[in-house]
Amino acid sequence: MEQEGSKGVVGIDAVELAKDEGAVVIIDQTKLPNSLEHIRLETPEQMYDAILHLKVRGAPAIGVCAGYCYYVCARQDSAGAKSWADVREPLRAHKEYLNGSRPTAVNLSWALDRMEACAEAHASEPVADVLAALGRECRAIHEEDVRMSAAISELGASLLHDGDGVLTHCNAGPLACLGYGTGQGPLFFAHDHGKEIHVFADETRPLLQGARLTSYELSRAGVDVTLICDNMASIVMRNGWVQACMVGCDRVAMNGDVANKIGTSGVAILAKHYGIPFYVLGPTSTIDRACATGDDITIELRDPDEIKTMWYAEPKALPEVKCYNPSFDVTDHELVSAIVTEKGICRAPYTESLAALFEE
Ligand code: MRU
Repeated sequence: MEQEGSKGVVGIDAVELAKDEGAVVIIDQTKLPNSLEHIRLETPEQMYDAILHLKVRGAPAIGVCAGYCYYVCARQDSAGAKSWADVREPLRAHKEYLNGSRPTAVNLSWALDRMEACAEAHASEPVADVLAALGRECRAIHEEDVRMSAAISELGASLLHDGDGVLTHCNAGPLACLGYGTGQGPLFFAHDHGKEIHVFADETRPLLQGARLTSYELSRAGVDVTLICDNMASIVMRNGWVQACMVGCDRVAMNGDVANKIGTSGVAILAKHYGIPFYVLGPTSTIDRACATGDDITIELRDPDEIKTMWYAEPKALPEVKCYNPSFDVTDHELVSAIVTEKGICRAPYTESLAALFEE
């Protein structure tokens, strides 16, 4: 997608529609930082696998990818169809299949539902016209994502001061969101606009998105970044080196409870202890109006082998040792200083400030 800012500050686009429109092209994020490889997702199985195994990841990027996946599936499912009635059921089956790849990031179902609603709105038209509408819709999701990421980054940067140290967790930069990003967007924006920011990036066990992706993006963009293990957050806060914490989000409940990468709630609890503001940044598409509180959010449980073996040549625990591997946790709204969206900065009481975002 050739538009200003779409390639992010590191000059790469995490998700694109192939020029021939027969595939979604993604950066295989599991290969970073050691190699930058693009792969084509042509079949629903390849798409499912890429989302499940975090080749494409981060809530907004999953949403953009899902929009393109739906479009590519629609093109395949409509081959030879005389009307949209012939396409509806096979495409719905592919949509439900893709929707099962990851449960916590709401942007996945949000984008798939939006694509289906678009198809239904045009269903009485010739098949070629429905496809054309779907092609426009998935590109619109991508463009909106880049715009929202720029808006969130600018608003988030207004919360930072020259010389601040900022601690961040997981990856919510250009690879996860396109454009500047959300949780890390303000760090790039502040840097680009002359503020001196020093970033502490949690490595983010077990899959090391902070080490592999966040420190990669920030250092490529020239932002001053120090990588720390997750269990070092307390000491850097105690040393007085952190003036703000900034993270992304995978699903926000209407009371302000936030699901984000496992370990996020621990950072928020530490921040409260040390009197440091804890900011959550994400698009309104990540706010789930069907979730009243964090208790309604499904937490993805992943393969225990990710803890024991995935990133090592040899296992680091005996095969019979049990592991518990939740991919996300819920941060209580009382620990959240503000939720920054593309429409504005929300503060407590979140039941009111988040609801107000959807009023107009
Ligand atoms: O499991 P991941 O890597 O998809 O988890 C990503 C996160 O938790 C991000 O912080 C979140 O999706 C926000 S990305 C803007």
